[in-house]
Amino acid sequence: MSTFKIALIRGDGIGPEVVEQTVRVMERVGEKFGHSFTWVDVLMGGCATDAVGKSYPDGTAEICRACDAVLLGAVGGPKWGSDRPAHERPETALLAIRKDLGLYANLRPAALRPALADACPLKRETAEAGIDLMMVRELTGGIYFGKRDKYQTEDRGVEATDLMAYSELEIERIGRRAFELARLRRGKVTSVDKANVLETSRLWRATMHRLAAEYPDVAYEDMLVDNCAMQLVRNPGQFDVVVTENMFGDILSDEASMITGSIGLLPSASIGDSAPGLYEPIHGSAPDIAGQDKANPIATILSAAMMFRYSFHLPEEAGAIEAAVDRVLAAGWHTADTAGDAERLVGTREMGRLICEEV
Ligand code: IPM
Ligand code: MG
Repeated sequence: MSTFKIALIRGDGIGPEVVEQTVRVMERVGEKFGHSFTWVDVLMGGCATDAVGKSYPDGTAEICRACDAVLLGAVGGPKWGSDRPAHERPETALLAIRKDLGLYANLRPAALRPALADACPLKRETAEAGIDLMMVRELTGGIYFGKRDKYQTEDRGVEATDLMAYSELEIERIGRRAFELARLRRGKVTSVDKANVLETSRLWRATMHRLAAEYPDVAYEDMLVDNCAMQLVRNPGQFDVVVTENMFGDILSDEASMITGSIGLLPSASIGDSAPGLYEPIHGSAPDIAGQDKANPIATILSAAMMFRYSFHLPEEAGAIEAAVDRVLAAGWHTADTAGDAERLVGTREMGRLICEEV
């Protein structure tokens, strides 16, 4: 019997509701497989700004570091917009926790779940060919963390700059993650860059080529980011593992999530070289439906499955959650965000209960 200590960042908007259902499902998995959990509530995001004046209260990283893993609902909302000072914005907290916990690898699987092939906005034959890719996004470098500046010029008004920098170390460690993951999947890595324009991309590509030679069993290709954006809607079935830098990954992962039919279904994992990893749904805080029992908890529940797989090395528990979700969807149960039969439309809590029951 093992006990896991889990930090819960419930956050803003629908965050608390989807985390609540995920906790329920994890408790059920614990009962079935003989694990127990200690839950540690961590205040972060817009709710922290409201409560203590900053979105990333002092000590947040330390509390998380004392846990085995972190589960995050969602942070952000129009109430804490870009007119607010940086320390009050929820996005600041998100970037800070990624950096402080060393979470350089962001895994965002985008798979078309069989029961939801109809929700795929692409052509039927494209959906039928299947979509099952893993976006591996570099998460603690590049333009997100480079030097920023804003200054007055003599003749061009105000000018602003954001620096994109990448080191070989940063590229190599994310590249290794991608190759290792490909070995566990279908054995193919697509590395996405803009090497026809950017110096950082040329270093990225050269480093990836060096790594590719170390993984001769994995098929490797380079792809320019604009072409990748196009290929994702033209023929997403060609991709297995897609590895890319921080901002390209931000953009492409939203596109990848959309083609699977519902952003409410997709989980993510952010991991580094040591615990804890952070697990969160791809979707945002959806303030328009917060507190109405309408949100889809599946993305967060599947994030917990990723936690079992990647942080606790318990693939059976992960598989039990994923299979339970698939059975509930196959039975036609759905929340308002996924198309389906009106008679089987359920709310957040009922969806959580159905998944518990299937586990
Ligand atoms: C994401 C989000 C964040 C990002 C924002 C909220 C800062 O879009 O996790 O993809 O850009 O990384
Ligand atoms: Mg994003």
